[in-house]
Amino acid sequence: MIHLDNITKNYGSGETEFQALKGVSFEVPQGEYAAIMGPSGCGKSTLLNILGLMDGPTTGTYRLGGDRVDDLSDELRTGVRRDQLGFVFQSFNLLPRMTAVGNVALPMGYSRIGTEERLARANKLLKRVGLINRGSHTPLELSGGERQRVGIARALANKPDLLLADEPTGNLDSKTAVGIMNLFKELNAEGMTILVVTHDRAVADQADHVIHMMDGLVREEERR
Ligand SMILES: Nc1ncnc2c1ncn2[C@@H]1O[C@H](COP(=O)(O)OP(=O)(O)OP(=O)(O)O)[C@@H](O)[C@H]1O
Ligand SMILES: [Mg+2]
Repeated sequence: MIHLDNITKNYGSGETEFQALKGVSFEVPQGEYAAIMGPSGCGKSTLLNILGLMDGPTTGTYRLGGDRVDDLSDELRTGVRRDQLGFVFQSFNLLPRMTAVGNVALPMGYSRIGTEERLARANKLLKRVGLINRGSHTPLELSGGERQRVGIARALANKPDLLLADEPTGNLDSKTAVGIMNLFKELNAEGMTILVVTHDRAVADQADHVIHMMDGLVREEERR
């Protein structure tokens, strides 16, 4: 599913240039549950943004399901992101004026499915993350954990092949975190490939493959 070869990422230029990724290579086969761990600032979010096609690498190749995606046009990249990827952000990124249901339905696309079906599907996803009676609330009216769960429901809106999540349990109490972990496990059992960045050893422990990063590089990989 994911094939990364020698990915580097530089931020800034000249005196302020900083290399956040220094040559990252690894593979995540289809159907795998993978976790990325490593200290703050080691490049995890930078890498996840590249994997989620939000940002391009400076050098190196990224193949997704066999196709090169690091050099796509904006239009093709948007299509791949919409059709194949789900992304859970470290900072939620919900639209503040829109209700929970609206946020979840947003990526579903107007032309492809009717409004009623979009809302029905969005409500079903909210139910799946345990938020069935919060659909009409806006993000400001939700707790941090509830916002994170709306973000997860939104990431699932287009039934992605690959779910990428940046600290999905980072802002949750332990009970809610276990609920999210169980949901990820279920989605993986249904065939979804999952790659999650986490500081939480309990989350990493349920993964098949743990990638340990350090200073912009992969330091070690564990497979179970
Ligand atoms: N847009 C940017 N411009 C310049 N430097 C950046 C930018 N984004 C990230 N960095 C730097 O790149 C390094 C890696 O950042 P990144 O966000 O990938 O870390 P991380 O591993 O996700 O950390 P955390 O666990 O704290 O979320 C950091 O030193 C950060 O300051
Ligand atoms: Mg980060």
